[in-house]
Amino acid sequence: MIPGVGTDRRAEPPVGYRIREIDPARRQDIATVSRLHLVLLDWGPMARFGEFFLRRFCYTVLLRDGLMRAALFEVDGRPAGFVAYTSRSITFHRQAIRRHAAYAAWLIALSVLRDPRVLPRLFKALRLMFSRRAELHLGQDPLGEILAIGVLPEYRTPQFVHRTDLRIGEALIAHVVASLQRMGVGRMRAVVDASNKAALLFYHQLGGRFEPYERAGDPMVHVWFDLTAPAPSEGAPSARATKR
Ligand SMILES: CC(C)(COP(=O)(O)OP(=O)(O)OC[C@H]1O[C@@H](n2cnc3c(N)ncnc32)[C@H](O)[C@@H]1OP(=O)(O)O)[C@@H](O)C(=O)NCCC(=O)NCCS
Repeated sequence: MIPGVGTDRRAEPPVGYRIREIDPARRQDIATVSRLHLVLLDWGPMARFGEFFLRRFCYTVLLRDGLMRAALFEVDGRPAGFVAYTSRSITFHRQAIRRHAAYAAWLIALSVLRDPRVLPRLFKALRLMFSRRAELHLGQDPLGEILAIGVLPEYRTPQFVHRTDLRIGEALIAHVVASLQRMGVGRMRAVVDASNKAALLFYHQLGGRFEPYERAGDPMVHVWFDLTAPAPSEGAPSARATKR
């Protein structure tokens, strides 16, 4: 069902693709995933802190600490999509702040100095971050969470999907599910802007259970996944018939 590494023989010429976890020691990977994140989710809570913070804190410190993970989907050696996720949805913010408060504050100050335009966006980002403190009632870790996911528009057109049979968004989610299942995580969530209809359709198609939610005063949708079912196989093109 899910692409992992391989070559799609249906495509002319064949398309080479792979999905791989990001290594925080590889600067090129960090730069690539940060750039994808900013291009595709500029309006999201993590991107509001600015490119510098995203690259130096989220995709370096959090990855190195194992509080967050990220994977990159490449097509013919070029980045096409990414996903960031955690197995500690309830506590990873608190742990990150507890461990790295001074460094985070320093990076935020530097971000503002480098580009004062991030300042108004920062207030919203901080509100969103602190609103997570009220989420203890949701349960305990381990709880998986999709923190960010995006696929470049040219890799989600009906033409691309028809030509290659690759559904990159679906493949990225399957990668996360398999990874969380290997860690023994039984539940996963995503918090989606209520206005992001494409993302909601995407999660609905994948079997997510929806609940209305609110974060920092904004209408959101909580999408829940039960991971106790057998893991989808990573490594073969989508078995779902191409409808587009
Ligand atoms: C959400 C996103 C990652 C989905 O990636 P994708 O590669 O298009 O997803 P897939 O090809 O695996 O799509 C699987 C299903 O999701 C649904 N879907 C995905 N994008 C859709 C869209 N724009 N409109 C309607 N349905 C969509 C479809 O039902 C699709 O199945 P189908 O083609 O058989 O109808 C992608 O649209 C994206 O990058 N969006 C911008 C960033 C974003 O909003 N991220 C989510 C933040 S929570």
